[in-house]
Amino acid sequence: MAQEYDLVVLGGGTGGYVAAIRASKLGLKVAIVEARELGGTCLHRGCIPSKALLRSAEVFRQTKEADQFGVSTQTPTLNFPKVQERKQSIVDTLHKGVQGLMKKGKIDVFEGFGRILGPSIFSPTAGTISVEMNNGEENEMLIPKNVLVATGSSPKSLPGLDIDEQYVMTSDEALNMKELPASIIIIGGGVIGIEWASMLADFGVEVTVLEYLPHILPTEDQDVSKELTKQMKKKGVNIVTGAKVLADSVEKSEGVSIQAEVAGTTETYQADRMLVSVGRAANVKNIGLENTTIEVEDGFIQTNKYYQTKESHIYAIGDVIGGMQLAHVASHEGMIAVEHMADQLPHPLNPDHIPTCIYSSPEVASVGLTEQQAEEQGYEIKTGKFSFQAIGKALVYGETDGFVKIIADKHSDDLLGVHMVGPHVTDMISEAGLAKVLDATPWEIAESIHPHPTLAEAIGEAAMAVDGNQIHG
Ligand code: NAI
Repeated sequence: MAQEYDLVVLGGGTGGYVAAIRASKLGLKVAIVEARELGGTCLHRGCIPSKALLRSAEVFRQTKEADQFGVSTQTPTLNFPKVQERKQSIVDTLHKGVQGLMKKGKIDVFEGFGRILGPSIFSPTAGTISVEMNNGEENEMLIPKNVLVATGSSPKSLPGLDIDEQYVMTSDEALNMKELPASIIIIGGGVIGIEWASMLADFGVEVTVLEYLPHILPTEDQDVSKELTKQMKKKGVNIVTGAKVLADSVEKSEGVSIQAEVAGTTETYQADRMLVSVGRAANVKNIGLENTTIEVEDGFIQTNKYYQTKESHIYAIGDVIGGMQLAHVASHEGMIAVEHMADQLPHPLNPDHIPTCIYSSPEVASVGLTEQQAEEQGYEIKTGKFSFQAIGKALVYGETDGFVKIIADKHSDDLLGVHMVGPHVTDMISEAGLAKVLDATPWEIAESIHPHPTLAEAIGEAAMAVDGNQIHG
């Protein structure tokens, strides 16, 4: 039977379900089509389960180091099945929460695979959604005024490197490992690679990271990348940069080996398992884009700043449009798209205002331009940097590695970028995000009183350091 809606959202991940809630609050009649589970990658195969594992790894490491706090423990042992159980129970709790939110918002959820149809007897324009139901029942036909494509992304591999359950994994398989390997090779030293390197090293796994570019975390400020390299090496992670992996040299038997060209010589790396983290590809296949005039470039759906595709009533947001593939970006884009459909005149998203967070230990967080980007864009800059070593709360906490770095325009005092490495910086970056939105100067950040003793004092000090006025350094 065909059903009519104001909006059908294709994909119930963090982008899609948040957009659906916003639309329902704006009075639209909304349906979500989800092929797997509501909550999508972030909840089931990304942010939440990986952070749950990272937290267990952190507790394991800290327990081993408890002696320095005057707490004596017997040698701690790891119960990895229990680590996995805890992770799953967090995911399950949040999954129930999202299902509850759909009911509360009176959002109809169709469990099945949705495809966009072209003009048909149902509608003169493309956009009718045919849903192949997971329960095997007859296809549902949904006739929306607007469609929001939020189908997300999937891990990429390299040609010649087949993902198998046994030796070569992406983060999808790694999250469900039943036991930890003794050693692992991680291909790609980006966000996923470094979070996993940090986690696995804290769990006691021998880790080698092979990164193609000259630095790990290549999109971060170079000071951040250098500091993280230092911290990962301190944990015992073997970081190899400038590594041209020869993907088809992979050999699997009682473990896995692969060759890489590093500084002109061919090296062989061997471990129990391999994790491939070389980026994520947009989920654009089989969703019916060929029935529309929607443009896809480099694998990503093209949109305007309100996320309209070439078919103006079909919007697309999140990982499927590329850019910064982050859950909080997807949900923000989703809200803008829905507000635009409902004629609410939303502000377009400013990429300079998007905080990024990496949950390694120590954590990394940033917003705005890196020093290198600021210089490339022709700014004359001044910077303030303050180490956590001089922050009382960091000493109390026992975590003094890292810094806050603030980059400002030398002439206008405009805040250009804020970059942090250290304890709890992913919770602290929102202050810098707010400063960017309010167009605050470093002086204004410093005027805002940072309570003592807190880790956030490092932000106040770094802001003062921009003009050489820091107190404790
Ligand atoms: P990424 O783009 O962050 O990093 C991929 C890395 O692999 C890059 O450093 C690249 O130079 C390297 N690489 C590419 N080809 C290679 C090769 N042949 N040999 C060696 N190195 C190679 O992608 P990643 O880490 O897979 O993450 C995917 C997306 O998920 C990113 O957009 C990321 O921001 C997002 N994400 C965000 C998280 C967070 O916000 N905390 C956590 C996990 C993922």
